[in-house]
Amino acid sequence: MTVSPISDRLADVESAVADGRTKIDWAYEHMPILQSLRADFEAEQPFAGLTIGMALHVEAKTAALVETLAAGGAEVAITGCNPLSTHDDVSAALDAHEAITSYAEHGVDETGYYDAIEAVIAHEPDITVDDGGDLVFRIHEEHPELIDSIIGGSEETTTGVHRLRSMDADDALDYPVFAVNDTPMKRLFDNVHGTGEASLSSIAMTTNLSWAGKTVVVGGFGQCGRGVARKAAGQNASVVVTEVDPRRALEAHMEGYEVLPMAEAAKKGDVFITTTGNRDVITPEHVQHMQDGVILANAGHFDVEIDLDGLADLAVEQRAVRDGVREYKLEDGRRINVLAEGRLVNLATPVSLGHPVEVMDQSFGIQAVAVRELATNGDAYDAGVHEVPDALDREVATIKLEAEDIQIDELTDEQAAYLDSWSQGT
Ligand code: NAI
Repeated sequence: MTVSPISDRLADVESAVADGRTKIDWAYEHMPILQSLRADFEAEQPFAGLTIGMALHVEAKTAALVETLAAGGAEVAITGCNPLSTHDDVSAALDAHEAITSYAEHGVDETGYYDAIEAVIAHEPDITVDDGGDLVFRIHEEHPELIDSIIGGSEETTTGVHRLRSMDADDALDYPVFAVNDTPMKRLFDNVHGTGEASLSSIAMTTNLSWAGKTVVVGGFGQCGRGVARKAAGQNASVVVTEVDPRRALEAHMEGYEVLPMAEAAKKGDVFITTTGNRDVITPEHVQHMQDGVILANAGHFDVEIDLDGLADLAVEQRAVRDGVREYKLEDGRRINVLAEGRLVNLATPVSLGHPVEVMDQSFGIQAVAVRELATNGDAYDAGVHEVPDALDREVATIKLEAEDIQIDELTDEQAAYLDSWSQGT
């Protein structure tokens, strides 16, 4: 079914546009990387004549990226990459831009979600920008005839990159896609600090409960997990980590966290935060060991980390106890509270704002230069997953350092020669 742009579906478009504009302006004001790139794009028009299809969390920082691409001459069609993370006012403000069409709407059901993905694809994008891979997969499955004219794509998150690498390994990925997630400027900041800060603040605002004195169980000690663990410890919580990778488990141990299997951690935790990109990290068997009143939240990409169907089967009663908190009552009276329907807790509770603006400036700075690379040099890349060239990552880091007025040293010629040499050193 075709879906219309968000503006056709809102009762009071004018006030939504005004509210969305205010949010976008605030974010953009704190995004020096996008400001710098936008000035270049306005002058150089690298995207003139190109259509960019996007499926990202449609909120203020994303909007700043979308408008930056439009300023470079692109026509942009966008929808959400999660049914609960869209801010309708921001979506409306984007849709008000003459070069942008936004289909994103908060709270759509699965059919509405994929109809909006289809609506973006109907614009026949030259470049796709995904968070989770939905546009790439849908195009390959349902619209392979578009692939020949697609220059390439870029992917924001770990789960999307994993899925694309699996496609690539099966020779099923038919256009080049940049793994934006894997750049240092993205993953060392967004995944670690962004997810850490934003998940904890979303949980605190949604529950109005303190971290101090709580035991926080972090499922997975990858980029996101180590950020969540570090920030929780910084808020005076005791942290327990669960892992399946022996090296990551050892790293957590060396960082001073208790490492336990989930079945054991389940008995100790007050708050559980999954960050694995995997399914069934918290199952009904784990829930059987949990204390009354625990809080379960997921910060991984899809809503499969907590087995909600299994939990629903265990429960004798369910009710909303606060905005964004669903209580599952078990037969013995224990209550298990799930935040944001098991979806990305930093983006999907009613008060969630996503990552801090400065962090997303870096991630979206990389998105912007990756899209510029596709627009200006796309022929150089074969079908498959590609790393973003390191020079582009450094370019974004340099803009950020300048904006922060941070100076660093430069290698001397002798130092550069030393580092490149295999014969110097004794
Ligand atoms: P990662 O690959 O660095 O870390 C995942 C960790 O989970 C690995 O150490 C892995 O061994 C562990 N793991 C896998 N299955 C497990 C299980 N059953 N029990 C315990 N540990 C398990 O990935 P990263 O970058 O930390 O991303 C994790 C997830 O978070 C992905 O889905 C990613 O897309 C998402 N993400 C979410 C963000 C947000 O805004 N909340 C931001 C960035 C990424």
